[in-house]
Amino acid sequence: MTKKITFLGIETSCDETAAAVIRENDKGTADVLSNIVSSQISEHKKFGGVVPELAARAHLENIEYIIKAALEESKVSLDEIDGIAATAGPGLIVCLTVGLNIGKTMAAFSNKPFVAVNHLEGHALSPGLENKIQFPYLLLLISGGHSQYLIVKDINEYEQLGTTIDDALGEAFDKTAKMLDLGYPGGPSVEKFAKLGDKDFFELPEPIINKAGCNLSFAGLKTAVLRQAKKINGNDKLKFSLAASFQNTINKILYKKTKIAIEMFKEKINTSNINLVVAGGVAANISIRENLKKLSNEIGFKTVYPNLKFCGDNAAMIAWAGIQRFKKNLLNKTDVEAKSRWPLDENAPYMKGPGLKL
Ligand SMILES: Nc1ncnc2c1ncn2[C@@H]1O[C@H](COP(=O)(O)OP(=O)(O)OP(=O)(O)O)[C@@H](O)[C@H]1O
Ligand SMILES: [Mg+2]
Repeated sequence: MTKKITFLGIETSCDETAAAVIRENDKGTADVLSNIVSSQISEHKKFGGVVPELAARAHLENIEYIIKAALEESKVSLDEIDGIAATAGPGLIVCLTVGLNIGKTMAAFSNKPFVAVNHLEGHALSPGLENKIQFPYLLLLISGGHSQYLIVKDINEYEQLGTTIDDALGEAFDKTAKMLDLGYPGGPSVEKFAKLGDKDFFELPEPIINKAGCNLSFAGLKTAVLRQAKKINGNDKLKFSLAASFQNTINKILYKKTKIAIEMFKEKINTSNINLVVAGGVAANISIRENLKKLSNEIGFKTVYPNLKFCGDNAAMIAWAGIQRFKKNLLNKTDVEAKSRWPLDENAPYMKGPGLKL
């Protein structure tokens, strides 16, 4: 029997301080021995968004306790851990540095391998914690800072097919919640209040829907929501219908763009067995899951989602990415530094800013 690898993972890229201990199992997935996430929702709520300095200070206050708690709950001692993985980017440098430094220091003092994990690779591989999925697969990554279609060819091997040219989808949900005064964090509250509204009441734009392949754009939709929000003057019924119409428009956009992404995937990868993995914080949205399920039934592919608890930021996915990289000998020295920008496909064109041609 081969030894099962066990990793400690640490995540502090944004507003969650998280640590987890993960062990490989015989099924090719993971035993999650502990998964501690301390959210800073109450700290950032009054500002309606993440304040970097506050987030960094909260990470510093919590990180030691969270790592201790993760080790204690896992019943695994530091001696028994095979390696340490910490998120090194992309994200807020002041936040990343907290988890990265403690991870590097622990690895150096205990003489253990260290892996600097790309947070997006953590999301990309997160369904693998519970489901064994064969490479290559199509990934729709929808989170607070990113919205992309990528081919996941292997660990560390990504090809971007499309990306947002302006806002990320999570950001669009958060801003919509703020404009409608639905509370923070935005995504879950838009989803909750959308259930009380009429999804067909407002007609909203679907930017770049008939051009630019599977690239995405949400800025024009956000502006349209703002325009309508000003008109409805706090009327609850209309507010809920605007939330519902926004979410319905997102679903229409994702339906059409995912169809294009599947076609692009088919052209590049010769397989009849197509898996679409949807990951990142927004993948927790049930209406988005049901919408893409409909598309998968219509054109014949399989959709795979991480468990809800692994959609938002967590350290289980970081430890899992750490184990995968360790097995491929993709280790880092402890002088590795945090990166605010770190695309999964380094060769993908930069799709933001003036002069962009679609
Ligand atoms: N049920 C939901 N419906 C829609 N959006 C949601 C839901 N739950 C969470 N979100 C959104 O997911 C985002 C958070 O996801 P995540 O934690 O992966 O983002 P991040 O780590 O800040 O960004 P990134 O992963 O791109 O660096 C937020 O924008 C949040 O509003
Ligand atoms: Mg994230």
